[in-house]
Amino acid sequence: MKALKPLKKIGKQLGLRTPVLMATSPHYRRIRKLAQPIIANIRRDAVDRVHELHRDSTDGYTKYFHDLDWNIEYVVNEAIQADLVNVPPQRVLDIGCGPGYFLYALQQFGHDVVGLDVTDTEIFNDLVRELRLPRIVHRVEAFQAMPPTGEKFDVITALGIVFDMHRTPDIWGPKQWEFFLNDCRSRLRPGGRVFLRFNPATTQKFDFIRDDVAEMLRKMPGGKLSESKEIFLLTMPG
Ligand SMILES: C[S@@+](CC[C@H](N)C(=O)[O-])C[C@H]1O[C@@H](n2cnc3c(N)ncnc32)[C@H](O)[C@@H]1O
Repeated sequence: MKALKPLKKIGKQLGLRTPVLMATSPHYRRIRKLAQPIIANIRRDAVDRVHELHRDSTDGYTKYFHDLDWNIEYVVNEAIQADLVNVPPQRVLDIGCGPGYFLYALQQFGHDVVGLDVTDTEIFNDLVRELRLPRIVHRVEAFQAMPPTGEKFDVITALGIVFDMHRTPDIWGPKQWEFFLNDCRSRLRPGGRVFLRFNPATTQKFDFIRDDVAEMLRKMPGGKLSESKEIFLLTMPG
């Protein structure tokens, strides 16, 4: 470990996003191997074309073009964390799907997917359309059920969550989350799962979610909140 410290420092000076320690780990090598064909396919299918369309854009979301490798490795890692790699095909709903990279990666892993998002971001609209990803247009709001989908899902995911009024004074408390998770539950098949990754809440005095939300999630039957409070997994009875 100690020997890697100077290497990490050099990596930082060079501005490398992947810390050296991570780059040398078997987990990262697995991610890289899975990500490489997805990167090639997604470029060909849409990303290069949509990037060209937004060549002069100053939108912060152009970050989804600039470090494409990093973004695809991120969604591949999420798929691994959510146990969606090398498993039988699953029906997946991804809430706040953004550019659709996670949905696209899941399709490449053999799953049947649908996203849900608002249409506020042109870059995301263009990517989702060009990647031919099905998307439900809807704004998630506190104490309001999502629209009927007429089917049940094996897995419901939400990554980099913002719909919880992230970084605002109205950030969701336990009651809002309970309502949302009950809505998700009603859309899951027996044994189905919810996989959530919260956004860091650096402007507030807590990590990822409010302490009272963490307390409620820790007590929820079938739920598991990671120690860092970053990931929540809920499993329905089989
Ligand atoms: C930080 S981005 C994350 C995108 C993607 N899940 C990822 O991990 O790269 C947050 C996404 O949530 C969407 N979003 C924000 N508020 C929402 C709401 N109330 N209902 C549905 N989607 C929302 C945004 O449009 C955006 O696509």
